[in-house]
Amino acid sequence: MLMSHYVHGYSERESERLYDQANAVRELLHGDTDYPTGSEVLEAGCGVGAQTVILAKSSPDAQITSIDISLDSIDKAKDLINKEGILNVHFRQADIFALPFEEERFDHIFLCFVLEHLQEPVRALMELRKVLKTGGSLTVIEGDHGSCYFYPQTDEALQAWHCLIQVQAHLNGNSLVGRQLFPLLKKARFHNVKISPRMVYTDSSKPKLMDGFVKKTIIPMVEGIEKQALELKLINKTSWNKGIQDLHKTAMPPDGTFCYTFFKGIGIKQSLKHV
Ligand SMILES: C[S@@+](CC[C@H](N)C(=O)[O-])C[C@H]1O[C@@H](n2cnc3c(N)ncnc32)[C@H](O)[C@@H]1O
Repeated sequence: MLMSHYVHGYSERESERLYDQANAVRELLHGDTDYPTGSEVLEAGCGVGAQTVILAKSSPDAQITSIDISLDSIDKAKDLINKEGILNVHFRQADIFALPFEEERFDHIFLCFVLEHLQEPVRALMELRKVLKTGGSLTVIEGDHGSCYFYPQTDEALQAWHCLIQVQAHLNGNSLVGRQLFPLLKKARFHNVKISPRMVYTDSSKPKLMDGFVKKTIIPMVEGIEKQALELKLINKTSWNKGIQDLHKTAMPPDGTFCYTFFKGIGIKQSLKHV
């Protein structure tokens, strides 16, 4: 299995963070995704189902198959879908690198915040391409931690933020993957590749976004890698504590501001004669 150790882990707190993340930026990231009636959609790396619920609700007449390598996450995703009364999702534990589906099985493929954790993202995309029908689309959403800036900015807050990038790199992931979606999709032989950056900007005039995105999604993501950052000696404990305290100030009125960009890419599978 070629997942780098999943940097954020599978704790309850991480599940909450994934739900908060999905809801805080739901419209920005998903507003333009809906699949036609009767289409078969594969969601790869569904995790605890945070994006699955959104997909299923915006495409109620599509049939969604959601897979993840973690059985524990699949169980949590199932609970959520049942609680929401959603009927058009089928879950299966599976590895993107060993997909248990025949070729050309799906009309569309969707994945969100998965490539950043994989050591071989192009190979993952090529495996997914095999189970996609000719003419079908692959949609991928990723963040890019290099796209982040905030106010007030201190050396320690920047250092803590950079620890996140370094820890993920240490685990063979790539938190700067957003800017690479275009070449990755091209290398995996997708056509008509279109990438759109989706910027989130918050200040105290948007308290709900500040709370859902910065306080509940971004800062917990940084806090979650404290142990690895200290073990790897990327930062000392005093600077870490100050960095986290300072990051919290970016989510506080009256002056805090925070900016981050996600990237959404779409590619089409063409028949081999067009390749
Ligand atoms: C950051 S989570 C994202 C979950 C979900 N897409 C979301 O946005 O809330 C990444 C997920 O990818 C899954 N994953 C990583 N490598 C995988 C692989 N090789 N095959 C299937 N799932 C994988 C992890 O188990 C984890 O649940």
